[in-house]
Amino acid sequence: MTETIEVLYDEATLSKRNEELATSIATAGYKKLLVVAVLKGSFIFAADLLRALYRAGVPLEVEFMSLSSYGTGTKSSGTVKVVRDIEVIVKGRDVLLIDDILESGRTLAFARNLLLERGANRADVAVLLDKPGKRVAEINADYVGFECPDKFVVGYGMDKAHSYREVPFVGYLP
Ligand code: IMP
Ligand code: MG
Repeated sequence: MTETIEVLYDEATLSKRNEELATSIATAGYKKLLVVAVLKGSFIFAADLLRALYRAGVPLEVEFMSLSSYGTGTKSSGTVKVVRDIEVIVKGRDVLLIDDILESGRTLAFARNLLLERGANRADVAVLLDKPGKRVAEINADYVGFECPDKFVVGYGMDKAHSYREVPFVGYLP
């Protein structure tokens, strides 16, 4: 039996928003842009946004970083660990971090600080969803797809206990 997932952002809405985000990223004037996608949650968003950036005429290099702050539950554990690091030198690069959700902000504040400590010129942040009401760390995203209602969402790369990442839209379990 498949569970019903309530749709929050459907495929057409996500696709349209990705093109808009790419257009605004294109106007920021990044030089030698290094995109760092934070795995696992951002993998579908990053794949779509990167292709939208191609259409918007933004050349880039992409790397992946796995960070973990959640176990299998739906509450952040508070500590962030690098599970898999990027493989390039970031010193002197313009970096754009891509993640699925900015919630407490601990994950992205950690990643951003790490890249700046390594000498990145700038480390901007693009997230699909922002849950501003839940912020603990001092960080805001430079690009936000949608301001998300305070629900635990799944799909489009995002999981609940390792399931639902493959769902092609963003939704929540009723
Ligand atoms: P933060 O460190 O609290 O900002 O956590 C952000 C990370 O927690 C995201 O990158 C997601 O991996 C995960 N997360 C937060 N809220 C949700 C949700 O509603 N659904 C799925 N994952 C979530
Ligand atoms: Mg994540």
